[in-house]
Amino acid sequence: MRLHHVRVLGPGGLSMPQTVEVNAEGARDRDATGLVLSPGWMDLHAHLRDPGFPQKETLLSGATSAAVGGFTHVLAMANTDPVTDSPDRLQSLVARSEALPIRIGFVGAVTVGLEGQDLTDADALKAAGAVALSDDGRHAMTAIVLRHGLEAAAEAGLPVLIHAQAEDLGHGPDAEVAAVKDALDALRNLSGARLHIQHMSTRRAVELIRNAKAEGLPVTAEATPHHLALTDQDAWAMGPHGNVNPPLRSPDDRDALRHALVDGVIDVIATDHAPHERSAKEAGAYGFHGFETAVGVILGLGLDGRVVYRACVSRPREIVGQSLEDEWILIDPHEEWTVEASSFRSRGKNTPFQGRRLRGRVIMTVCRGQVVTERVLQHA
Ligand code: DOR
Ligand code: ZN
Repeated sequence: MRLHHVRVLGPGGLSMPQTVEVNAEGARDRDATGLVLSPGWMDLHAHLRDPGFPQKETLLSGATSAAVGGFTHVLAMANTDPVTDSPDRLQSLVARSEALPIRIGFVGAVTVGLEGQDLTDADALKAAGAVALSDDGRHAMTAIVLRHGLEAAAEAGLPVLIHAQAEDLGHGPDAEVAAVKDALDALRNLSGARLHIQHMSTRRAVELIRNAKAEGLPVTAEATPHHLALTDQDAWAMGPHGNVNPPLRSPDDRDALRHALVDGVIDVIATDHAPHERSAKEAGAYGFHGFETAVGVILGLGLDGRVVYRACVSRPREIVGQSLEDEWILIDPHEEWTVEASSFRSRGKNTPFQGRRLRGRVIMTVCRGQVVTERVLQHA
């Protein structure tokens, strides 16, 4: 497919309009004036609920939703039922994922059943195809278990992704700060270990990561579109539909996340796509749909193209050692649209952005040289 007059998002930001040839079987050449071509985005943090919760999502519904949202590579968390804590479970997920429209990678659990007690077999999980380890959804590990977990992961050559919320301290900022401190302490003097802090939500945790990076510790961090765009005020207005873990925080915390993203203390934007059925949300379940609103919300942050490229394309892949293949998305950065959850491809309609106007939408996703989703252009 030849795209004319398209601007390309790269490490240096947005290019001038040019003609680009994209490997996309069967797709027609087109005038792409006003559009942006980006390497497919990678989402380091998603819950695809498979196996165990088909009313929330499946590998196929999740992968399709991700493709619509502009993600060509997604990392699926291990808090499924059963938990992805054994090599055979991991291997069977990898095998099933080969038929999906986009690339799905899998994390293995750090501890058996996410219970925080017994370590899984990091080497065997790596051999089965795990690209990282995480107990996300829980944080039951003590500092000692965490240290041993980081050590085992380091020997297996895997990063550990931490859901930094000390479970005994609840959901407040202190729980995040305590867990980040523990994790950074566990990391000191451990050669070869790599630590990644998931869904950062507080200014104080940002400052801990800033100092740790200055100290030279091998730590990276992510923030979600919802923590970058929304605050506790929005959550209050949504009742149980505003429940998410970690919670939406103060405007000051949100501003700290935005600054940290720009200055590189936060490496990555990851959605924490956490689909739930309506009845579960009404009963208080934590988590938001993330995939199909991500591009609009992220473009709405007004970031420099270089930051978007780093946070959504390059750093996620560097953290889990994955390379870009034939993966592209075509974005209309000018399209204004209203979020309507009932039209999501995901089974999870639990978006905090319902009814909001967003600017910027994915109009085509190409993965492995195939067009996997394409929208009809409204002003074409
Ligand atoms: O809100 C959340 N939902 N945060 C998590 O850490 C887990 C996730 C889920 O699995 O629903
Ligand atoms: Zn989490």
